[in-house]
Amino acid sequence: MKNLVISTGAGMSAESGITTFRDAGGLWENHNVMDVASDEGFARNPALIHQFYNERRKQLLEVKPNAAHYGLVELEKYFNVNVITQNVDDLHERAGSANVLHLHGELMKVRSMRYEDRVYTLPCDELSDRGIETSVDTIDAYGDHVRPHIVFFGESVPNFDPACRLASQADIFVVIGTTLVVYPAAALLQYAPAGAEVYYIDPNPAAVPSHVHVIAKKATEGVAELIQILTQK
Ligand code: OAD
Repeated sequence: MKNLVISTGAGMSAESGITTFRDAGGLWENHNVMDVASDEGFARNPALIHQFYNERRKQLLEVKPNAAHYGLVELEKYFNVNVITQNVDDLHERAGSANVLHLHGELMKVRSMRYEDRVYTLPCDELSDRGIETSVDTIDAYGDHVRPHIVFFGESVPNFDPACRLASQADIFVVIGTTLVVYPAAALLQYAPAGAEVYYIDPNPAAVPSHVHVIAKKATEGVAELIQILTQK
């Protein structure tokens, strides 16, 4: 089976009802992205950040994977599929994707601020408020404060190396729903081997090299077209 590596961004989940980051002028749910997704923002106002991510968690529980998420699962019948996502939602997993690597962390997880390897999946009995309601001073069973298991701007991306390894083994590389402006995620495209087929699905695509086959459609329509192209070959 050929290796199909798929890199997804916020546009992948847009049709599930999750707001993208930059489509509305740099504001995300009425906040400046840097206030709610940067290490400086967290240092300045941790309460705002906890409240913000608690709201995002509640929203996530109300939405469902869309046809594009399910379409990628369908492709597992034909290819060895690995999904690399910048999204912190769990919609790929809920749709049934077998291999999902999160570059920017996971919304439904928090971790101890003292011991980074103590990662808790919400809701979790080891947390003072089970971590999902509105308390802003969540502590774990050891008395340590926790923080979102999210990679903020200004922090390193621990899963970038495994993501590069996957990209470098791709026979087919697909990018879906991302502005390709946030590094290092945007650089993954450059790790695909020279001979790989490359597709980019986005209704408002960024400028890409000429060998990239652009499908300028929303994720649901674009993935349906991709399935046709890839399975008819
Ligand atoms: P952006 O919000 O920057 O970009 C969303 C992209 O999705 C744009 O290119 C849109 O054209 C496209 N789009 C919108 N609706 C779509 C649809 N229905 N189907 C397909 N595409 C659609 O989001 P990202 O590029 O993913 O980082 O942002 C990258 C990172 O910036 C995020 O992971 C996040 C943010 O700060 C962290 O949280 C660390």
